[in-house]
Amino acid sequence: MTTLLRIDASARTEGSHSRDLGHAYEAAWRAAHPGGTVVHRDLAASAIPQITAPTIAGFYTPADAMTDELRAATALSDALIAELMGADDVLVTTPMYNFSIPAALKAWVDQIVRINATFSYDGTSFTGLVTGKRVTIAIAYGAGGYGPDGALAALDLVRPYLQTLFGFLGFTEVHVVSVEATTGDAVMLEAAMVETRRVIAAFAA
Ligand SMILES: Cc1cc2nc3c(=O)[nH]c(=O)nc-3n(C[C@H](O)[C@H](O)[C@H](O)COP(=O)(O)O)c2cc1C
Repeated sequence: MTTLLRIDASARTEGSHSRDLGHAYEAAWRAAHPGGTVVHRDLAASAIPQITAPTIAGFYTPADAMTDELRAATALSDALIAELMGADDVLVTTPMYNFSIPAALKAWVDQIVRINATFSYDGTSFTGLVTGKRVTIAIAYGAGGYGPDGALAALDLVRPYLQTLFGFLGFTEVHVVSVEATTGDAVMLEAAMVETRRVIAAFAA
């Protein structure tokens, strides 16, 4: 059975443009995959805790040396990684907050980027272990000008970060769709949303 893992990072559950794009993708994905399963991680509805010292210790402890404390500290990471590995397609919707991703999304990242689980290191190079999947990323920016030649291009730490992250994990198919100036003119924004919904829906097919 085909599975979509959808991760929403906007703190807003109403009026969120990144979630709106996610809805367009999910609707198209469901139409293209009748009988498919959608697993939804809403990071606003259910916040993911920050990793702690025992979590990190557990990440670096061999399976046969794990204690009950370390197992408990890595249980959420285990579950989130299983969710990621069980997906065929991944959808991430996120705003830009202070030029970067929301802390809610970074908390998820810190739980799922784990040595010998989602990547390996042989002393020289890294290998991503999350293979055979594709990810689609929808980003909402409040201002305009983050495009390649835009005045704010150098301030965009969202798109390059997420592209680098998913590439590091082993994804070879990474699609990024974005809408800018969500705090700007409402008419222009709606026109941009109509077009961007169409673009992101096409990636779901
Ligand atoms: C805490 C916070 C920080 C933000 N920082 C930025 C920023 O650095 N650059 C920007 O262009 N927009 C910024 N915005 C605007 C959001 O990116 C914009 O409102 C976006 O549409 C939010 O996503 P959403 O519509 O999915 O909730 C910020 C908004 C919030 C709430």
